[in-house]
Amino acid sequence: MPKVSHLFFRAGILFLIVGIGLGLIMSISQQHDVIGAHAHINLLGWVTSALFGGYYALNPAKAEGMLPRVHFWLYTAGVAIMSVSLYLLLKGNTGMEPLVAVGSLLTAAGVLIAAYVIFTPAAAGRMQPAE
Ligand code: HEM
Repeated sequence: MPKVSHLFFRAGILFLIVGIGLGLIMSISQQHDVIGAHAHINLLGWVTSALFGGYYALNPAKAEGMLPRVHFWLYTAGVAIMSVSLYLLLKGNTGMEPLVAVGSLLTAAGVLIAAYVIFTPAAAGRMQPAE
């Protein structure tokens, strides 16, 4: 499996542990005040990261070069910043709003890189899996 796939799965499983932890805390405390953070950590942090990791594993030619690394770091930093600041915002720290915006924009930039990678054919001569 390409290194960038490992990176996406490792980051993803850490997000899932945190996301499920928040879900359990909400359930046990019966205080559902951080649903937004819980849902985004699980869906952007775990589900989407695992989809990106799976895509690169199925298309190893696309995992070569710098762009997949930029994709990983931009996207993961964005989701991490957004998750923490959104959690704090939902807990009443209104000053977190600009940080939520920064995290969201980084996350969106990561998704645009993913779209570019998906739509651009792999460079000629790069390893392609058997069809
Ligand atoms: C042990 C695991 C989990 C627990 C204990 C848990 C717990 C919760 C709780 C208590 C809520 C609030 C429900 C409400 O007030 O309406 C919630 C909402 C939500 N959870 Fe989880 N959750 C878990 C795993 C997950 C996972 C893995 C995902 C996604 C991959 C997820 C996605 C969502 C979403 C999208 C919502 C919002 C639903 C809505 O607004 O209608 N959860 N969860």
